[in-house]
Amino acid sequence: MKKFYYINLPVKFDRFQVDNFIDDGTSKEIPMELNKVNSEFIDWLHSLGLSMNMGRFFHVLPHHKMRLHIDSKDNGPYKNCVKMNIVFNSVGTIMKWWELKPDKQKMTYVNGVGEIITGYNEEDCYVIDEGIIDQPIIFDGMTIHNLVNGSTLRNCYSLYLTKFETGERITWEEAPNIFKDYIITRE
Ligand SMILES: [Fe+2]
Repeated sequence: MKKFYYINLPVKFDRFQVDNFIDDGTSKEIPMELNKVNSEFIDWLHSLGLSMNMGRFFHVLPHHKMRLHIDSKDNGPYKNCVKMNIVFNSVGTIMKWWELKPDKQKMTYVNGVGEIITGYNEEDCYVIDEGIIDQPIIFDGMTIHNLVNGSTLRNCYSLYLTKFETGERITWEEAPNIFKDYIITRE
C-alpha cells in the first residue's frame, strides 16, 4: 500500500532558520514560519492548486528513533493530513508506515511542541510501507508512521498541504494525481 511518494522538486526550497530554534544538542520539532518559505516554492505549490496551513521544522540527531504516531490530535479539526517533507542532510533515514493489529489499542503521548499525540506500540502494529527518506516526499500523516534516523544530523521542513481555493486539507487519495508530473520511482 503506497503511503509515500518521492517528489522531484522543480524549484529550490531555500533553507532558513526557524525563529524558536535553539540547538541544545537534542532532537527537536518546532513550528516553522510559513512566511519564510521562498516565493518560487510557494508559486510552484500555487500552480498545483495548493497552499499550506502549517509547517514544522525537525532537527533530528543521528540514530534518533521517533515513536509510532499519527500527525493529528484525536479531537483536532482535521481528518486529512498530507504532508510534504523536504529533507536536508539525511543519509539512510528510514520511515515506515504501519497498520494497527485488530485487537490492539492506541495510546497518547506529548510531542516536542507539547501537543497530545496519538501513539502506538511497535509490537501492536505491522508494516505496510517503508522507504529510505533522503529526498523530498509527500506522505500520508494520518497513517501510523515513524522514523529512524541514519548517521547524520537530519533537518526536515514538513509542510501541511491544503487547497489554495478553499484552505481544506487535501486527501491522500487526491495526492498522486495532484503531483503526477513530479512523482519519481526508485528501487
Ligand atoms: Fe509524523
